[in-house]
Formats: sequence, structure tokens, C-alpha cells
Amino acid sequence: MLLRVPQALSFPTANDGVLGVKTALHAPARVICASVKSSNNAPITGVVFEPFEEVKKELKLIPSVAHESIARHKFAGDSEACINEQINVEYNVSYVYHAMYAYFDRDNVALKGLAKFFKESSEEEREHAEKFMEYQNKRGGKVKLQSIIMPLSEFDHEEKGDALYAMELALSLEKLTNEKLLNLHEVASRNNDVQLADFVESEFLGEQVEAIKKISEYVAQLRRIGKGHGVWHFNQMLLN
Ligand SMILES: [Fe+2]
Ligand SMILES: [Fe+2]
Repeated sequence: MLLRVPQALSFPTANDGVLGVKTALHAPARVICASVKSSNNAPITGVVFEPFEEVKKELKLIPSVAHESIARHKFAGDSEACINEQINVEYNVSYVYHAMYAYFDRDNVALKGLAKFFKESSEEEREHAEKFMEYQNKRGGKVKLQSIIMPLSEFDHEEKGDALYAMELALSLEKLTNEKLLNLHEVASRNNDVQLADFVESEFLGEQVEAIKKISEYVAQLRRIGKGHGVWHFNQMLLN
């Protein structure tokens, strides 16, 4: 629709709206409307939102090659690489926890509470890896899995005993994971990727701090009780 008004009543101002609606400065009672479809195709006010013109640039960016993501938008290559690295970290930690589960579940070790704790921890880390995989795909990146390092199979330690030794190892792994997550957040910020930064913050950073606190408490308790009888009670506590 075109509402024609005398040219003399149009006052270009800084507050021209994007939809071509503008208010005359010295004639507050009048609102001048312009439409894209004026007889000569030119807007009266000179301020018109032209969606098809503006989207042209974006249209060119949509790939037509089959092996490229269609959804990818403002997602940097190093963010993609860093997510793949984080997937590998989560998998490695999951693998170590799985090895600890198998150790504490042995018939001659038989600390079932610790076995349960490390089994659940291992599953949780794998879930983290999968969450990153899902996010990588969501952003149009490609998941590239890397190799996993062979973990220890023996966790007994002459001075500390197995429970404390394994728990201290778990604490160092959680701190390492935290460092890697913070690095990923930094890469996201460097690339002005607010969405990736928000994903890392809301899904991982808070939980990581909780995990570090919980395992630190376990380390403190195990240091207090030593290697003997107390470990049995600690183990029973983890069973419930
Ligand atoms: Fe994790
Ligand atoms: Fe963790």
C-alpha cells in the first residue's frame, strides 16, 4: 500500500525506522508511510527495509556442495577443532575411570562402593563426550575422534593405598578437564562465538567446579582414615 503525501511534508530524521515509517520532526501529528511499491519503485522516504537485498550476501554463503554443512553459521575452524579435542579429553577420562571400576571390582580388591563410583563417573564422562558431539553437529562442525591412551590397570600404592591413590588421580583428571574447558571457552570468546561460550558455561563449567569440590572432599577423608579399616567404611558410604 502506498500513502502518497506531498514531498514537502517529509523530514528525514535520525530516528527513521527500518520499516520505512518515519515521524515528521516539525509536524508531530503526521506520520508518513512509504511502501516498496511506489509507482517508480523508489520509496518516498528513502528508508526501506529490503529483506531480499539484505539476504543476498547470506544466500551466497550457503554451500551447495554435498559434503559441507548447510547449517553452519559463524562457527570458526578452531572452535570446531577445540570441541574435537574436548571430546577426546572426556573419552580419555572416561576410559581411566572405567579401568578404576574394573580394578575395584576384582575379587581380591572387592571395594564395591568405589567400583560403583568409578563406573558411574566413567559413564558420566562418556555422556559429556556425546554432548559435545551433538553440539558439534548442531553447529555444522565435523566430529573427528582421536586415539585414546591406554590407562593403568594397577592402582595400588605402597604409601597411599589404592583408594586414595585412585581418588587423587581422579582429582587431577577433573582439574585437567576444567583447564581444557576454560581453554575452549577462551577460544569461543576469541571468535566472538557467544553461543559456544554459553553452551560451555551453562552445561559444563558449573558442574566441573562441583565435581572438583566433591572429589577433593573424598581425598581429604581418605587421607584422614589411612589405608586400613577406614577404607571399608568409606567404600560402604559410596554404596549408599
Ligand atoms: Fe567431563
Ligand atoms: Fe568429570
